[in-house]
Amino acid sequence: MHNYNDYNYGQPKRQNNTVMILLIVLISLVLIVAVMGIVYMVKNPVVTPPVQGDTTPAVTDGNTDEPADTTNPVTTEPPVTEPVPDERGITFVGEKMESKLIHTGDLVLVNKDYAYDFEVNAKKDGGIGDLYSFWKPWPKYSYKLTGTKVKMPTRTAELMSVMFDAFLDETGENDYLITSGYRDYQLQQETLDEMIVDYGSESAALRYCALPGHSEHHTGLAFDCYVFTDENKTYKLGEEKMPELYNWIYDNCARFGFIHRYQAGKESITGFAAESWHFRYVGIPHAELIEEKNFCYEEYVNFLRDYSYENYLVYEASNGKTYGIYFAEVEPETVVIEEVRDENGNIITPASVSEQLPDIASIPVPTGNVPYEISGNNVDGFIITISLD
Ligand code: DAL
Ligand code: ZN
Repeated sequence: MHNYNDYNYGQPKRQNNTVMILLIVLISLVLIVAVMGIVYMVKNPVVTPPVQGDTTPAVTDGNTDEPADTTNPVTTEPPVTEPVPDERGITFVGEKMESKLIHTGDLVLVNKDYAYDFEVNAKKDGGIGDLYSFWKPWPKYSYKLTGTKVKMPTRTAELMSVMFDAFLDETGENDYLITSGYRDYQLQQETLDEMIVDYGSESAALRYCALPGHSEHHTGLAFDCYVFTDENKTYKLGEEKMPELYNWIYDNCARFGFIHRYQAGKESITGFAAESWHFRYVGIPHAELIEEKNFCYEEYVNFLRDYSYENYLVYEASNGKTYGIYFAEVEPETVVIEEVRDENGNIITPASVSEQLPDIASIPVPTGNVPYEISGNNVDGFIITISLD
């Protein structure tokens, strides 16, 4: 029989001191078990098993009330050690998410650099309807429309209505006029074509209108808003002659989860001229934080990179609720593509190395009954919003 030490150290088989041999064997075994344990823990850093029924994160897309579609089969990693709750008693587990879902959710950044992913979001388009059909209760409504063609996902229509209902309750007015909501690729192209005519050149139009594929209007989370009074007066929001009353939307949109997306002073970051009329839903804690810090959305997405599940940002919103917010990057993998040669040995395609996202990523999410929402940022990871109440 081999002594374990034969393999490891090449010790002679015969030793007079039996106790010594046993001791060495014992120490070796302890060391091996310890090393294996450390390796396993390093590979599986997040710790507790999920509670049944609380494991599927609500990936929302802004276009339906349902969690994002079923392209999100989620499983959890096995427990590794005893849970180690943080100071708030929250433990985290690695949730397996399809990496492509970074292109879905309420918090996607869509701009000149980051296109909207129609393919991954395709199933959500079913929830989009004509905005006039959402007016409730008819004929009393808290905002106006330019016609029957403005479209919006049901969920965004409801979120927006909550805001305009509050305006109606507080002021007795319903003069905000919605001129645009959801736009598909074709409608964005038509919008751009019209603006090129209006502005006289494509470059001038592109200061105010995104290229098809790059508009926030594709997300179904954005709308354009003007003012149309019962006296048939139309105002561009924020223009000098506009009655002060209608500045209400700037002062209040954040507490309803909306941001004024393209503001003066941020043009070099957003890539667009200031638009007094364009609003976008991101959810309450995010909208309030963005306003408080005077960020444009690009800045906010970058800002969140400093917060991980180990040091999440804690924020008490005006609704009295406390949220934890953090970012989880999906690390790209290096992929080596081998060279391709023809039958004569000539290189057709040289070897190359590229970075691409893995199919599945492990994203830390809270366990137990801690509610949370997860959204892609459309760039390189997920933003997780935990309810800490
Ligand atoms: N007006 C904004 C930039 C858009 O076209 O999406
Ligand atoms: Zn707009």
